[in-house]
Amino acid sequence: MDIESLLSLLRERRSIRRYDAKPVSDDDIKRILEAARWAPNGANLQPWEIIVVKNDEKIRIIRESIYPRRYAPSDEGSFFLVVCGDTRMKEYYPPVHTEETREYTFTVSIAAAIQNMLLAATALGLGSLWRTVLKNQADALRKLLDIPDFVRVMSVIEVGHSAESPLPPPKRRIEEFSHVNQFEKEKIVDSKKACLDRSIHYRPARS
Ligand SMILES: Cc1cc2nc3c(=O)[nH]c(=O)nc-3n(C[C@H](O)[C@H](O)[C@H](O)COP(=O)(O)O)c2cc1C
Repeated sequence: MDIESLLSLLRERRSIRRYDAKPVSDDDIKRILEAARWAPNGANLQPWEIIVVKNDEKIRIIRESIYPRRYAPSDEGSFFLVVCGDTRMKEYYPPVHTEETREYTFTVSIAAAIQNMLLAATALGLGSLWRTVLKNQADALRKLLDIPDFVRVMSVIEVGHSAESPLPPPKRRIEEFSHVNQFEKEKIVDSKKACLDRSIHYRPARS
């Protein structure tokens, strides 16, 4: 793949919040999981555990009880990947680590696997959404999916055939976030104003 094709794929990926009724094939699910396998990750411990939720009743419970606000009753064909991490593995990063760097390495390793899966979904022509898991949602998912105590629920990823084509939200320009040879202090911005300008939560939803 050439760089322009890669950049196109990266630009093409959007967070998708509406899906149609067509189900995702098992082959495509397997390809998405294959993408996770190849993620860069701290010490190659590969601490992710990914639950593919395909069961209609469990999908219904996730939609109606765990993430209720976003879903109107509909015939969406999407499914969920509940991405977890085996916290026991944090102990096995090299001894130079601190508690903080163990936590960081564990979390970003799983994030890398997630990003790989989102890109694989995009390449398959599928939409996807990376969702935050709040404490009450993690507790409910743990119960619903029988997740052991030492396995942390990290994120929920929804994948399906997209039923919307959102415009990209505002993206920072390269010159705004890149610094050459030192931190360019003139680029420090009013963080509150910058975040209010960028955040999707302070603008009307696009569709
Ligand atoms: C760690 C993380 C958590 C997110 N949580 C949510 C979420 O809970 N709900 C949601 O609708 N989108 C969520 N998103 C998607 C972001 O809102 C989205 O990536 C961002 O607005 C940029 O839009 P884009 O993905 O279309 O480029 C999350 C993304 C990340 C990386």
